[in-house]
Amino acid sequence: MYDPNGMVYFNGIYHLFFQYYPAASVWGPMHWGHAISEDLVHWKQLPIAIYPDKLGYIFSGSVVVDSANTSGFGIGGKPPLVAIFTQHDTAGEHAHTDTFQNQSIAYSNDGGMTWVKYNGNPVLKNPGISDFRDPKVMWYGAGNKWIMTLAVKDHITFYSSRDLKNWKEESEFGKDIGAHGGVWECPDLFAFDDNGKQVWALLVSVNPGGPNGGTATQYFIGEFNGTTFTPFNNNTKWIDYGPDDYAGVTYSNTGERRIFIGWMSNWSYGQLVPTETWRSAMTLPRNLNLMRIGNEFYITSNPVVELNYIAGKQTTINKITVNPPVDLSQQIKNFRLPAKIDFDVAQAKSFSVVFSNENKEMLTIGYDETAKHYYINRKESGETSFEKSFAGEHTAPPISGATNIHLTIIADVSSVELFADDGLSVMTEIFFPSKPYDQVQLQSLENIEISGLTYTPFKNIWK
Ligand code: FRU
Repeated sequence: MYDPNGMVYFNGIYHLFFQYYPAASVWGPMHWGHAISEDLVHWKQLPIAIYPDKLGYIFSGSVVVDSANTSGFGIGGKPPLVAIFTQHDTAGEHAHTDTFQNQSIAYSNDGGMTWVKYNGNPVLKNPGISDFRDPKVMWYGAGNKWIMTLAVKDHITFYSSRDLKNWKEESEFGKDIGAHGGVWECPDLFAFDDNGKQVWALLVSVNPGGPNGGTATQYFIGEFNGTTFTPFNNNTKWIDYGPDDYAGVTYSNTGERRIFIGWMSNWSYGQLVPTETWRSAMTLPRNLNLMRIGNEFYITSNPVVELNYIAGKQTTINKITVNPPVDLSQQIKNFRLPAKIDFDVAQAKSFSVVFSNENKEMLTIGYDETAKHYYINRKESGETSFEKSFAGEHTAPPISGATNIHLTIIADVSSVELFADDGLSVMTEIFFPSKPYDQVQLQSLENIEISGLTYTPFKNIWK
C-alpha cells in the first residue's frame, strides 16, 4: 500500500482508495486498492477498484461527488462519483517522451463500489513535463466550476472545468516558495472558515526534502480566488515533522469537517521495511483545523474522535513526580499497545517517555528544553539495518509558545503518532522491534510533575 487516493465520504461510507500493486510487496504497476469504513476506525478491504490499462498505471488522484451531474455520467437523477487520477504510461517513459503522465477520469453509479473509465480519456493531456500528476479536485462554488490542483515537477498548476472533462489552465504557484528538495507530489487545496471568512490551505508533499530527511508534506496558508493561490507569507510549515507521513490529503464531501490520512512511510525506505506478507499502512485519520498564533495561521492535526469507539478501560493518574524514573507499565494494570497516553507537564522542561521490551530495544519520545524541540529517537528501536538513515532521532519545534506541555501519544506495535502543542507539532514514526514493547517509563533529570495522565488501551478492530 502506498498513497491514499480518492478519499470521499458518500452515503454514510468513507471510501479509502490507495496506490496498490497486488502482485508483490514492492512498487509495481499501480492499481487503486479499495477499503471502506462507516466510522473511520473499522475498515473492510474490497476488490481492486481501478485497474491499469493501455493508457498506463493508475497513479494518485481524487474522487468527487458530482451533485449537479455536471459530467453527465449520472443516471436516474442520482449523483455519480467521479474519480480523477493520473495515468502513467511506462512505454512513453522508457522512450524518454516527456508526455507519459496524463489525467483520466472514471465514474461510479453505485456509490463508489464499481467504476467505469470514461471513453474520452485522457481528459487533461501532458504539455511536455515529465512530472505531471496527482490531481485533487474540488467544487469551487463561488465560480461555479471544478478546480483541479495538480503537482507539476517543482510547482502547482491549477486548472478549472465545468464538466470534469474539459480542463483549462488557471495559474501556477510555488516555483520560488516552499521546500524544493525534490519533486512536488500529491497536493490538496481546501478552505477553512475563519469567523465567516475563507482561509485557504494548500498541502504539497515533497520527495525528498522533508524537515527530518526523505519525504514529507508541507503546507501554505493564503487566499484562493478561483484563479490564483496567494500565500499570506513565505514560511514553510509542515503537517507532520516525523519521517512517516507522506502523500496525505483530505476527504471530500465531509462538509465543514476536514479529515486527513497520510501514507505511514517514507520513500527513503518504504520498499525496504522488514515486514512480511504486507507492507505499509496509513496514519490514523486526523481532523485538521485552523489556528491563529499571533499573525500566523497554522493547521492543527488531531486524531479523530471516532477512536473512542475502540477505547478500552481508561486508567487515570492525577499526579506523578518523575525523578527517579517512573515505570508506568507497573502502575497501569495490563499495560499493552496499541494505546493512547495523554498527559500534561506544567513547565516545558526536559523529559522522555521510553517504550521498551526485554530485548533492550527502545523508542524514546520527549522534549528537550535546551534545544527547544520535541523528539523521537528510534536508533535502538529494533531492526533498523535495512536502510542507513532509518536509525535516527527526529525533531519538531513547539509552535504556540505555551509554557506548559500537553502530549498525546498513540502507539501501536509498529508505529507511534505524537500530537504535541494542541496538534501544531505532529510526528509519525514507524519501528520494528523483535518483540512488542511491553514497558513504558517516564524519565527526567529534573523534578518534573506530570498531571492528568490517562492511559487508554484500544480494542482490536479486526473481528
Ligand atoms: C507519491 C507518488 C505520486 C504518484 C504515486 C505513484 O508517493 O510518487 O506522485 O502518483 O506515488 O505510485
